[in-house]
Amino acid sequence: MTRILPADQPSIAQAAALIRAGEVVAFPTETVYGLGANALDAAAVAKIFAAKGRPSNDPLIVHIADLDQLALIAKHVPDSAAVLIEAFWAGPLTLILPRTVAIPSLVSAGLPTVGVRMPAHPVAQALIRAAGVPIAAPSANRFAHTSPTTAQHVYDDLNGTIPLILDGGATHYGVESTILDLSGTPRLLRPGGITAEELRFWLPDLQIVERHSDDAQPMIAPGMLLKHYAPTVPLTLFEGEPSAVRQALRDRAEALLAAGQRVGLLLTAEDIAEIDLPTARIVSLGSQSDLPTIARHLYSALRSFEQPPLVDHLLARSFPAQGLGLAIRDRLMRAAAGHMEIV
Ligand code: TXA
Ligand code: MG
Repeated sequence: MTRILPADQPSIAQAAALIRAGEVVAFPTETVYGLGANALDAAAVAKIFAAKGRPSNDPLIVHIADLDQLALIAKHVPDSAAVLIEAFWAGPLTLILPRTVAIPSLVSAGLPTVGVRMPAHPVAQALIRAAGVPIAAPSANRFAHTSPTTAQHVYDDLNGTIPLILDGGATHYGVESTILDLSGTPRLLRPGGITAEELRFWLPDLQIVERHSDDAQPMIAPGMLLKHYAPTVPLTLFEGEPSAVRQALRDRAEALLAAGQRVGLLLTAEDIAEIDLPTARIVSLGSQSDLPTIARHLYSALRSFEQPPLVDHLLARSFPAQGLGLAIRDRLMRAAAGHMEIV
């Protein structure tokens, strides 16, 4: 039995007591919900992998609430990291740094490095402070499913496998943190809430790691499987000029509908004004010009197609790989397991 409690002071205290006792708890962050355990306790961390069905070669991110916790986790903080910490913490930026022996190797899948971030969400911060330990936490979804942006999403995936979900409402960014590897030439391992453009101001030589090949090296970029964040309905993504994309979406939807298939469309408000398909199930992500809103709605929208009335095929548009669009496009590519058609 999994309880969902509003994230007030008494329930945060309860959650902190569970963390100290070696249990796992789901909690809101500003990106997505996390499934947390005491990052210094290997047995507690093992429960995260078990609850999610996550393979042990996929490392976790350690969450801290105060900068003095960093010395416990990272052996060395390069100058480039200090500048970024000053600029972007607390917030959706994970830094890959050399790991100390205090962090069990299970946390970072045996790598010599560890991912660290300081979440901006007040509930996450309060929980880490009340627990008095850094909290290792992946997204609180079943492995390879879409990340949760509400407590209900967590419940849908993990009911019965964890004791408690702190409900702090829908998350703000809606996509996971940006992951930046500073162990050599700065590399963006995962685009997220902090954009590559923002990072380039401090890191002009930033490299962006291509995450979309199925043979992504497991040791360099663990957890970067192509099929990740996936909904249970097959998704095809269309990319190109807006009018060509709309034409392709319309044509494909009409062909599938004519063949007796049930079709879902994940569109922008601008698309919907131009695509009139009364028998398709259409969900809007918001206006094309408002990428933060699109990102915030993305995972809920994908999950909504798993609820009746079910569809056989999901068709969606891609987004330009700029600003937050890079993260939105990346997550859609993963949800589509690479099924992208350039039109
Ligand atoms: O926004 C977020 O980052 C959310 C919230 C809960 O904080 N967490 C999250 O965790 O997205 P998760 O487990 O879903 O993604 C963690 C990913 C791993 O799959 C891996 O790609 C990368 O972070 N990662 C973690 N530690 C790493 C390391 N030492 N080296 C390289 N990549 C690492
Ligand atoms: Mg995840």
